[in-house]
Amino acid sequence: MDNPVEEIKNRLDIADVIQEYVRLTRAGANYKALCPFHNEKTPSFMVSSDKQIFHCFGCGEGGDVFAFIKKMEGVEFPEALRLLAQKAGVKLKPRDPKTENQKTKLLDINRLTAAYFNKILLESSRADGARQYLKERNVTETTIDEFQLGYSIDDWDDLFNFLVKKGYRENEIFDAGLTVKKDRGVGYYDRFRGRLMFPLADAHGQIVGFSGRQLKTNEEKPSAKYVNTPQTLVYNKSAVLYALDKAKRSIQKEKFAIVVEGQMDAIASHQIGVTNVVASGGTALTQDQVRILKRYCGSIIFAFDMDTAGAEAARRGLEIAWQNELETKVIKLPVGKDPDECIQKEPKAWPQAIKNAQLFMDYYFSKVESEVDLRTVPGKKSLAKKILPLITRLPDAIEQNHYLKMLSSKVGVEEKYLRDRIAKSINEDYRQPQPSAAQPVSPKDRAERLSELIIGIVMKYPEHLGYIVENIKPEYLKGETSRQLYKKLVVYYTESTDFSLKQFYSALAEKTPNLVEVAKSLCLFIETDFADLTNEDPNIIKKTLIDAVPFLKNNFLSQESKRLEKELQQAEATGDKDHIRSLSENITRLTEEIVQNIN
Ligand code: CTP
Ligand code: MN
Repeated sequence: MDNPVEEIKNRLDIADVIQEYVRLTRAGANYKALCPFHNEKTPSFMVSSDKQIFHCFGCGEGGDVFAFIKKMEGVEFPEALRLLAQKAGVKLKPRDPKTENQKTKLLDINRLTAAYFNKILLESSRADGARQYLKERNVTETTIDEFQLGYSIDDWDDLFNFLVKKGYRENEIFDAGLTVKKDRGVGYYDRFRGRLMFPLADAHGQIVGFSGRQLKTNEEKPSAKYVNTPQTLVYNKSAVLYALDKAKRSIQKEKFAIVVEGQMDAIASHQIGVTNVVASGGTALTQDQVRILKRYCGSIIFAFDMDTAGAEAARRGLEIAWQNELETKVIKLPVGKDPDECIQKEPKAWPQAIKNAQLFMDYYFSKVESEVDLRTVPGKKSLAKKILPLITRLPDAIEQNHYLKMLSSKVGVEEKYLRDRIAKSINEDYRQPQPSAAQPVSPKDRAERLSELIIGIVMKYPEHLGYIVENIKPEYLKGETSRQLYKKLVVYYTESTDFSLKQFYSALAEKTPNLVEVAKSLCLFIETDFADLTNEDPNIIKKTLIDAVPFLKNNFLSQESKRLEKELQQAEATGDKDHIRSLSENITRLTEEIVQNIN
C-alpha cells in the first residue's frame, strides 16, 4: 500500500462517510441532503457515489471524502488522513519512527504516573490530608475515579524512584516533564511534590501532562498554587482543554461548549451532571483550543471568573472565537466567584445560569452601560469608544448592523457617523499596524485562504506555475491583494523564460513595493506551516492545487451567478425583456459551467 490516500478512497464509499454526519436521501444515482455547511431549507447538497465526490450548489463547497472531513471536522489534511485511515482500517506509516516512538514512550510514562498518583491518593497514609481536602470540597469518590485525580508524595524522588523501578530512563522521565534538573551537580528531582494531581488528557483521553494544586498555603514556604507540566513532545499547553475527552460527546449533543477557567470548576460541573464543560487552564482561549472546540460545536459559552482578569480573558478568547465564526455567549454567575463556588453554594443556579447566558455583545453592552453615565457627553463617548472596536470585529454584517443601531440610539449619534468612525479606525489600523493586535478584522474564508495558499505554493514551487496560470484566472481568486499579486505573477510568467523568486521580488519592488511584503509572508507561510504537510505527504502540493482549481473557479462562478440572479430580479421588476433573456442565458451558461467543473 504505497499510497494510503488511494487505498482509503478505494475502501470507503463517500456516501457512507457522509451518512454519519447528514441524512442522505436517494436522488437517482446520487444522494441529496440539506447542506451541513450552510443554512438551507431545500437540499442542494449532492453526493455522487460514482464519482466519489460531494458538491453543494448552494454554497459551492465540494470535493472528495478528504475535503468533506476537513471541512466537517474542522481539521487539516494530516488529521483527516488519520481519521479516515481509521475508518477504512488502513494502517499509516508513522511519520518519523523515532519521534513517534518517543511520543508513545512519554504517553506510557504519563499513563503509569497518573495511575500511581491515583493509587497513592486512594491508599497512602501520606495522602490523608489530600483526601480530607477533596472531601471538604465535595469531590466524590466516583469523580476521583472518573478524573483519575491523584496525589504526589511530598518527597524529592518518590515518583522518580517508582518510574526508574518500572524500567524508565532518567532522561525519559525528564522529557515527560515529571522531573526537574538539579541546579547544582547532576541528577533530577520530582517536579510535583505534595500536590493534588490532575492528569491532563487530549481529546482521545491520552494523558499528555499534569497540573498539581497545592493543598494549603504555607506562609513560611510560599509556593505556586498550581504547578504544571512544561512544554513536552506530547504536551502543548495552548492545545489542551481540560476534560474535553469526557465532555466531547455531550458538547456535540448540546451543540455548545461551556468553557470555564479552572479544573475544579470543570469537575464540579461534571459532578452535578452538566458535562459539556471544559476548562481552559486559567488563560484566555487560544487559537488551537478554539479550533479544537469547533470540531464539536458551533457555539461557546464562557463562564470565566467575575474578576477583571477573568473578564479580560473572556474578551480575548471571544475575539478568537469570532474569528473562527463561532457564536459566543457569556454566563453571569448569580452566586460565587467561579462556577465551582456557585455549584457548591447553589447547584441549581448553575444550569439556570447557563440557560440565561447572554450573547457576548449584549452582555458587554450592558456591562459597559452600567459603568458609564449615559446622561453625560463623556459617558456617551466612553460607551462608543469601548463598543465600536468590538463591533468592527463582529464577523457578521447583520450583527454589526444590529449593534450599530443599538449604539446609535444609546449615544444619540446617527449610524452614519458611527460607520465613518469605524471606516476611519480600520484605515488607521492599516497605516500603523500594531504588533500586538495581530487579529484580522474578520475571519478569512476558504476561498481567501486558498487564494493565498496557491500563490505561496507557486512562488515556492514554480514548476506548478504553468498549471495554475492556465487554469486560474485572476478573478477566480478571492481578496484584492491576492488578485493583484497573482496578476503580477501571471505577467512575470508570460514575459520571462523561467521563474526566479528574487527577480520576481525586484520586479514587484519597482511598481508595487507593498506587494513585496505580502509575497514574502506568503512564502514564509509555505516554508513553515506547509512544509510539515509536505513531509507527511509529498503529493500534498499537487493535491492542494488540483483541489483548489475547481473550488476557486466554482466559487467565482457561483458568485457571478448570484450577481446575475439579482440583476435578473431587477430586470423582471422593470419588465425589460431583452435584458431578462440575455441574463437568463448567461445564468444557464454559468450553471452548466459549474456542473461541468465538478464532473
Ligand atoms: N492556574 C495555573 N497556575 C496558577 C494559577 C492558576 O495554571 N499559578 C490555572 C489552573 O488551571 C487553575 C486555573 O488557572 O485551575 C484557575 O485558577 P484559579 O481561579 O486560581 O483556581 P481555581 O480553579 O478556582 O482553583 P481553586 O478553586 O482550587 O482555587
Ligand atoms: Mn475555584
